[in-house]
Amino acid sequence: MEQAEWYKTLSFYQIWVRSFADGNGDGIGDLYGVYEKLDYVKALGVDGIWFSPVYPSPNADYGYDIADYCDIHPDFGDLAQFRRVLDKAHRLGLKVLMDLVVNHTSDEHRWFQESRKSRDNPYSDYYIWRDEPNNWDSLFEGKAWEYEPMRGQCYLHLFTKKQPDLNMDNPKVREEVKNIMRFWLDMGVDGFREDVINFISKREGLPDGLPFVPLANGIMHYKDGPHIHEYMAEFREVANEYGAVQIGEGPMTTVRSALSYLTGDTKSLDMMISFDHMLADCFMTEYVHLPFSLIRFKSAISRWQNTLAGRSWNVLYLENHDHPRVISRYGSERFWRESGTMLAMSYLFLQGTPFIYQGQELGMTNIRLNSIDQYMDLTSRTNYERLFTFEPPSKRLKRVHDSSRDSARTPMQWTAGKYAGFSAHRPWFTVNPNYKRVNAERETAEPDSILNFYKKCLALRKRSRALLFGSYREFCPLHPRIFMYERCYGNTAYLVICSFSSRPQEVTLPPEYRKKHLQLVLCNYDGRTGRSPEFAPYEARMYRTRIYESSAKAAQKG
Ligand code: NOJ
Repeated sequence: MEQAEWYKTLSFYQIWVRSFADGNGDGIGDLYGVYEKLDYVKALGVDGIWFSPVYPSPNADYGYDIADYCDIHPDFGDLAQFRRVLDKAHRLGLKVLMDLVVNHTSDEHRWFQESRKSRDNPYSDYYIWRDEPNNWDSLFEGKAWEYEPMRGQCYLHLFTKKQPDLNMDNPKVREEVKNIMRFWLDMGVDGFREDVINFISKREGLPDGLPFVPLANGIMHYKDGPHIHEYMAEFREVANEYGAVQIGEGPMTTVRSALSYLTGDTKSLDMMISFDHMLADCFMTEYVHLPFSLIRFKSAISRWQNTLAGRSWNVLYLENHDHPRVISRYGSERFWRESGTMLAMSYLFLQGTPFIYQGQELGMTNIRLNSIDQYMDLTSRTNYERLFTFEPPSKRLKRVHDSSRDSARTPMQWTAGKYAGFSAHRPWFTVNPNYKRVNAERETAEPDSILNFYKKCLALRKRSRALLFGSYREFCPLHPRIFMYERCYGNTAYLVICSFSSRPQEVTLPPEYRKKHLQLVLCNYDGRTGRSPEFAPYEARMYRTRIYESSAKAAQKG
């Protein structure tokens, strides 16, 4: 394997530091806490960590509004502590990825503080200024333009007012980005997750968008913009000097447009984070909730698996800091253990590099706070205020319960003790009341816990070329309750069958599997032989079998 492809056999754990572990007793997670918990991360069986932003930030968007790219938020520690974490991670054999957020900065960043002062200072063209705004909406709050009296102009902010968009057309800004990359790569980090990277090049003249598209009305003028591939090529060069991996976050990307980043001469990203499969119970945003559709979920997964096969590589995930907890949306809190383990099997054996978000491996679920004022995430509050305003507050609060990013940001549940063992001090945000049952200490000790099941899945995946590199084939794509897929390499095939139903399900095997000797290698119910066609609620099984050379070839092609 070429050096640049090292990420293909690995799996990653995402840490959102503020809620991971508090090491200095102030109620806020930090890098001292991370340092202590690295052995836990290692024991899970992952091979790397992606840190959501750890830089100084006024937290208008919890770290995604960066005030200094080359330092550490004082709440989290300092650069020396970051180096300790990095060294220990590397000693344990864990790679470290940083979050590179360069579509925008914080309005408290030094560059913006200068830029806003006048039209003729060294930073005046670092941001996107206009005398008159266009009609774009911000994705997070109100319109996308804010008037700055000092300069007598408006600046663009696709996200919050406190996140002015950088002007990537300015070569000096691109130099800054490359310097930021070098700063962290020189320190030894292994790559980047690149925030909303498909938005960084805006169409010249910033034309008006479609007036009737809610929230993202300007999208056709800033997604995959005219110079995106030139700019990405510049960043790629830097990454290549270090053999670093680059993973782009691609909101609203299609797999076709992802290919333009992932393949060909312009290949600028190693992987792209897709959103398609996260839209199986909503429209555009989780706030616009719809009943979960397994068919939508499967078709998104298969579209990415099939299109990238042999050309690129998938990011596999079901949770991150931007989405509610997956058991609460695609699984069932009633069948908590069963659906939590089934969901693990539904994605950890696909082709790609898996990401596990902190607490997902414990089966953490959504929090339901009593009033909108208790939510910390700005988008939960702005959605509540600006969408479905004709609905009564109780209905809108229910939408927040189903959709809030805050459900992913409650403190990590380490023990059944005070504050869930997250901190000795009252935590900065509410602990989910289910922590006595859902916590790492208890689940480490229980052999059949969700945590131990994740460990099993990751270990199995790592040992098998078929699960790492094998071809992907989906069966019964229109079945509304069963997800069935095959991974095949040489003459070994794995068949994964997941029931997304809270009732027993009769499952028919594909004809080519009916007469084979199927060895059950994994099941989320104890004591199963794997021979019964009936699946219990949220049961998931993985069988292994041998296939003959000719059918192996057919399967590879298929
Ligand atoms: C995507 C990040 O994941 C999200 O948390 C953030 O709010 C937006 N980009 C803006 O940076």
